[in-house]
Amino acid sequence: MGKEVKILSIETSCDETAAAVLSMESGKGFPKIKTLSSVVKSQLKLHSKMGGVVPEAAAREHLKNIRPVVEKSLNDAKVNLDNIDYIAPTVGPGLIPSLLIGVEFAKALSLASKKPIIPVNHMLGHLYSPLKDKGLKIKDLFPMISLIVSGGHTIIVLMKNIKEYKVLGQTVDDAAGEAFDKVAKILKLPYPGGPEVSKLALDGNPSAINFPRPMLNQKNYNFSFSGLKTAVFYRLRDFPKTKPADICASFQEAAVDVLITKTLRAAKEFKAKSISLSGGVAANSALRAALQATSYKLQAKFFVPPQNLCTDNAEMIGLAAAFMLHNGYKPKSYKQIKADPNLQL
Ligand code: KG4
Ligand code: ZN
Repeated sequence: MGKEVKILSIETSCDETAAAVLSMESGKGFPKIKTLSSVVKSQLKLHSKMGGVVPEAAAREHLKNIRPVVEKSLNDAKVNLDNIDYIAPTVGPGLIPSLLIGVEFAKALSLASKKPIIPVNHMLGHLYSPLKDKGLKIKDLFPMISLIVSGGHTIIVLMKNIKEYKVLGQTVDDAAGEAFDKVAKILKLPYPGGPEVSKLALDGNPSAINFPRPMLNQKNYNFSFSGLKTAVFYRLRDFPKTKPADICASFQEAAVDVLITKTLRAAKEFKAKSISLSGGVAANSALRAALQATSYKLQAKFFVPPQNLCTDNAEMIGLAAAFMLHNGYKPKSYKQIKADPNLQL
């Protein structure tokens, strides 16, 4: 086993101010990673009043919260900056005013402490989030098909091994989480809509309305959710007495159907030994259950993070930084680090 290193990770890409401290011991096979602390300060109350994330307001909140959140993560881990080896901020994708707070704070810490930076792609955080502590039988895991479903992205990734991955397809318009949030808005449910739609869906009939399954039969791994959201809008306009619970259950059924069908197709084509699910929408119980059942039928292992690791947090950013280091990434000087709102996986 190699030397143990400690990583301070920082996440401010959207509306959660988060910091975590992880330790990592690299060696043959899977790195040994421990979470020493993880702090998330949500801005939910502020944005729910406005019905969505307002970038300028989010940035002001990050600015207010970043120092106490980072301090708490160090205190909870019982370490100070001297004990930290690397600082790992999310550098993109995300809202630029939000990203800048975390990135510039990390750069200032790096300048003051002389600790180098590991710049993390937020989507890499989601991608690695189901893999914590799954390393015992590394040869049984790959190839892995990963479905990442968040508020801003819907991506199918082929992970060939712990280091190499390839994006097979993504949404051509709205992301899955965005569709949940927009359907909630149409139904006048509180923000954020995803959890509200899934809660209401429990009381509805998933077969009540046969909503469209966009791009289901196209021979690619791309998605489209904007037509599905519009179909919900027209249904309510034309049949205003439809039970909201039935709308939620039927919409969720259509969205889950498309996500599962395409993931299953990819898993078959690439002979996946395992399937993973991550991103905020991975907190959805119907999607978790459906993909678990699909994986079981295919005799593939199924990995999904606990629900608190699905939505944005800094633990997954630290995890991605740890895997980057383990895979040979050379940390950088703060002078080389820049936020990039459009960073691709
Ligand atoms: O990963 P995340 O926290 O932020 C982004 O990186 O975008 O994902 C947030 C998204 C939101 O669209 C939210 O509505 C959705 O995840 N979400 C859910 C559930 N919980 C969160 N969608 C459906 N069902 C849920 N239970
Ligand atoms: Zn996210």
